[in-house]
Amino acid sequence: MEKSEGRQSRKKVVAVVGGGLVGALNACFFAKRGFNVHVFESREDIRKAKIVKGRSINLALSHRGRQALKHVGMEDKIISKGIPMHARMIHSLSGKQSPIPYGRKGQYILSVDRANLNKELLSDAETYPNTTLNFEHKLQDWSADTGLMTFSRSDGSKDQIHADLIVGCDGAFSATRKQFLRRSRFNYSQTYIPHGYMELTMPPVNGEFAMKPNYLHIWPRNTFMMIALPNLDKTFTCTLFMPFEDFEKITTGDEVIQFFQSYFPDMIPLIGVEALKKDYFRLPAQAMVSVKCSPYHIGDKCVLMGDAAHAVVPFYGQGMNAGFEDCIVFDELMEQFNEDFRAVLPEYTRVRVPDDHAIADLAMYNYVEMRAHVNSKWFLFRKHVDNVLHFFLPKTIIPLYTMVTFTRIPYHHAVERWHWQNKVINYGLLLSAVGAVLGGSYLLTKHSQQVNKLAVPAEKMWTRLVSFRIPGMMTTQM
Ligand SMILES: Cc1cc2nc3c(=O)[nH]c(=O)nc-3n(C[C@H](O)[C@H](O)[C@H](O)COP(=O)(O)OP(=O)(O)OC[C@H]3O[C@@H](n4cnc5c(N)ncnc54)[C@H](O)[C@@H]3O)c2cc1C
Ligand SMILES: *[C@@H]1O[C@H](CO)[C@@H](O)[C@H](O)[C@H]1NC(C)=O
Ligand SMILES: *[C@@H]1O[C@H](CO)[C@@H](O)[C@H](O)[C@H]1NC(C)=O
Repeated sequence: MEKSEGRQSRKKVVAVVGGGLVGALNACFFAKRGFNVHVFESREDIRKAKIVKGRSINLALSHRGRQALKHVGMEDKIISKGIPMHARMIHSLSGKQSPIPYGRKGQYILSVDRANLNKELLSDAETYPNTTLNFEHKLQDWSADTGLMTFSRSDGSKDQIHADLIVGCDGAFSATRKQFLRRSRFNYSQTYIPHGYMELTMPPVNGEFAMKPNYLHIWPRNTFMMIALPNLDKTFTCTLFMPFEDFEKITTGDEVIQFFQSYFPDMIPLIGVEALKKDYFRLPAQAMVSVKCSPYHIGDKCVLMGDAAHAVVPFYGQGMNAGFEDCIVFDELMEQFNEDFRAVLPEYTRVRVPDDHAIADLAMYNYVEMRAHVNSKWFLFRKHVDNVLHFFLPKTIIPLYTMVTFTRIPYHHAVERWHWQNKVINYGLLLSAVGAVLGGSYLLTKHSQQVNKLAVPAEKMWTRLVSFRIPGMMTTQM
């Protein structure tokens, strides 16, 4: 009783800078604890806006993100408007489609609409009594000593507002973070990858999805790839990831069609020649940045979450999920330290930095791996081995993708465990392959007339064995 009265009597003001996915969700978390929450968003209210500019149209929501939504009672509402994707569907150049399941039966990720998710979260935040949403408020600067923030309004005027805690959820180019960069002992790195992305729309065919809806479709083509996620209106949003220099080579409608004929011939009839020629030039390819930093807090005044703290490249489908998990982790520490910001903030940095750095690294690693290896035989074989082992030893061997996507095992533990499992599995495979080769040799000597027939598979086996040693060929991605 005393504890909760203590909380009530000193109701603090929390300013959430940025009303995107993570900011809107975080506002709900703080409001649920009874804080006075003010959200400041530079754009206009997307619930009223006619055109919503911004990044990817839809996103893959998985376990971590869902758990966070559940904490604020929003899971069911969002799930009901998501489309389950049970497997990847790999499209080969010849048009052949092969599914690769995500995990065990019944495990799936969800394709959700970014704008709808953002709107629902803003509306939910607004239902709490002491929460206000302030649109067209762009953070200019803030003081680490006083917590005084300066916002510019769309009419050119300025607002100065004080808060006890500033929560920077203002995305990859965070204005909140600028204050961190001025300080000493702040680690910061930012990397633009040479790839850009472009979104294309695949319309419904006769009122139905043009391809099977419950899959994340992937067209891996080595240095570039296409993916497609389903939308509720029966369209697919197709995203082409490709080096900027290749995007720049394509300058006319005919070149677009030639390019698709060479690499994605099965998509041409589904999108349509004329639509494709137009859609391709609608927007230029967008850049992707990876940002890592540490610490995530300044004193007891300010903390960074979501992309403001860790923008990751989108090749693990975890950016938003990691940002949503940030909110849970912070909330758990608030509980543990009785909402004492002086204790919660440093502890948040301590526990969360290794995990966010781990997912940033994994996503970057996949950027290299997924384009090339999703269609390699070894990749599929290892995936199969992992899944079989997971089936028989569910607590011992868990595929990395499963740990990242379907559990809340801290990201950096998942990576450590993955390294350990790979050692064990590769060693096991090596032993059985050696066993097979020895067994084969035994048969060879026994039936010398069949030498030629048997020698070939044995040789192939060794080629495979050698490729076991190529580091990092056994990962999955989206
Ligand atoms: C192509 C692509 C595909 C992706 N796919 C997935 C996926 O499948 N799954 C997944 O989990 N993640 C995915 N992501 C990552 C995901 O989009 C981000 O991690 C997520 O949007 C981060 O949310 P955020 O709220 O931290 O930042 P943002 O969504 O960037 O929101 C930041 C908000 O802050 C506002 N703002 C900015 N500056 C200021 C300022 N100075 N003052 C006030 N407000 C400000 C912005 O207007 C914006 O509303 C993808 C990203 C890309 C680029
Ligand atoms: C909202 O905040 C005001 C001022 O801080 C406070 O007096 C009031 O009790 C709060 N309302 C609720 C429902 O918490
Ligand atoms: C900055 O990076 C160095 C090198 O990785 C590390 O030793 C140090 O602890 C980091 N500092 C912070 C504040 O994270």
